[in-house]
Amino acid sequence: MKTQIAPVRTSTQRADAIEAAVYLLTGGYPVALPTETVYGLAAWALNPEAVLRIFQVKERPKFDPLIVHLPNQDWLNNLCVIHDEDLDLVQSLVARFWPGPLTLVLPRNKIVPDLVTAGLPTVAVRMSAEPVFKEVIEGFGQPLAAPSANRFGRISPTTAAHVYEELNERIHLIVDDGPCEYGVESTIVMPTKGKLWILRDGPVTRAQLSEFGEVETQHRKKMPHGPGQLKSHYAPRARLTLLKHDEAPLPAGKGPVGLLAWCSAPQAKGFAHVEILSRTGNYQEAASTLFAKLRILDSMGMNRIIAESVSEEGLGIAIMDRLRKASGNG
Ligand code: TXA
Ligand code: MG
Repeated sequence: MKTQIAPVRTSTQRADAIEAAVYLLTGGYPVALPTETVYGLAAWALNPEAVLRIFQVKERPKFDPLIVHLPNQDWLNNLCVIHDEDLDLVQSLVARFWPGPLTLVLPRNKIVPDLVTAGLPTVAVRMSAEPVFKEVIEGFGQPLAAPSANRFGRISPTTAAHVYEELNERIHLIVDDGPCEYGVESTIVMPTKGKLWILRDGPVTRAQLSEFGEVETQHRKKMPHGPGQLKSHYAPRARLTLLKHDEAPLPAGKGPVGLLAWCSAPQAKGFAHVEILSRTGNYQEAASTLFAKLRILDSMGMNRIIAESVSEEGLGIAIMDRLRKASGNG
C-alpha cells in the first residue's frame, strides 16, 4: 500500500481530502490528520477493530492508552462520568480551553472500548481546533482516537512529510494542512476535587491552569499507567545529551556531533551541524520547530546531539520535558 498525501490548499483538494478521510474512517481504517499540536493517527474510537489498527500501525504496546477527540462538547457526557463535585471545574476548563491543546482525563463511561483506555477507569478526551481536523470529525460525527502519528517511541510528527517518513506503506492517507501550530503535544490534566493534576506539560501552561485550581504534578512512580511513564520517549536515533543550565556546549564523543542551541551558538566550533531553536528566544517558535529540528539532526547522520537547556517557565516547561524524554531521562 503506497500512502497518499492529500493537500488541502484549494477548496477542491480540501473537499476531496475530507471526503476520502471520512470514507476511510467509516470503513475502520486509520488516517493521519493535522491537529494544532502534532499530526495524529486517527481512527473510529468506538470501533475496537479500528482502534486495534492504530496499535498495529504504530507498533504501540497495548498498555499505553489513547486520547479520544470529540466532534463536539456534547460527547463529553456520552464518554465520561463527571462527578458532581468536579462539574464546575470541568465546565470552566472546557469553556476556556476547548477546542484547543488541552486534554482532560476523566472517569470513563462503559461505551469506551477497553483497548482505548488500556483498561484504565479513566479516559483522556480533547477537542481539536485545527480547521481540517474539525471538518473531518464533524463530517464523521463520531469520536476519533488519535495518538501522535509516529512509530512508537519516536519523535512526534509536525508536518505531513514527517508522517510519511514514519508511516509510509502502513496507512492509506495523510491529510496535509501544513506545519502544526504548537508543535508539542497537548497538555494533559486530571481535574479532581478542585485540583489539577498535570500528567503531561504542553501548550496550555501551568500558569494558565492555576487560575482554575491548585496545580499538582503527578509523579511517574505513583501512576504506573500514566503518560510518559517510559523514560525514553520522543527519541531521535542519535544519543541526545541535555546540558545543564549555562553549561558550555562541547562537541565531545565519537562521530559527527550536532548542536541544538537555544537562541544563538557562539561556541559552535567543532559541531558537524547546528540548529537554533529560536533566534529571538521565543518559546512558541522554539516549541513549534523542536521536533522538526531533532529530525533534521537525525537525518544528517549525527551520532550524538548536544542540546542546551531552556528556562523552565511557561512553554519552556513542555520544551524541557520533551528534551529530557529525548535524552532517555524523562
Ligand atoms: O496533542 C496531542 O495530544 C496529540 C494529538 C494527535 O491529539 N496526541 C497525543 O497522543 O499526543 P499520544 O498517544 O501520543 O499521547 C497520549 C498520552 C499517552 O502518553 C497516554 O499514556 C496518555 O496520553 N493517556 C491516554 N489516556 C490516559 C488516561 N486515561 N490516563 C492517563 N494518561 C492517559
Ligand atoms: Mg505520542
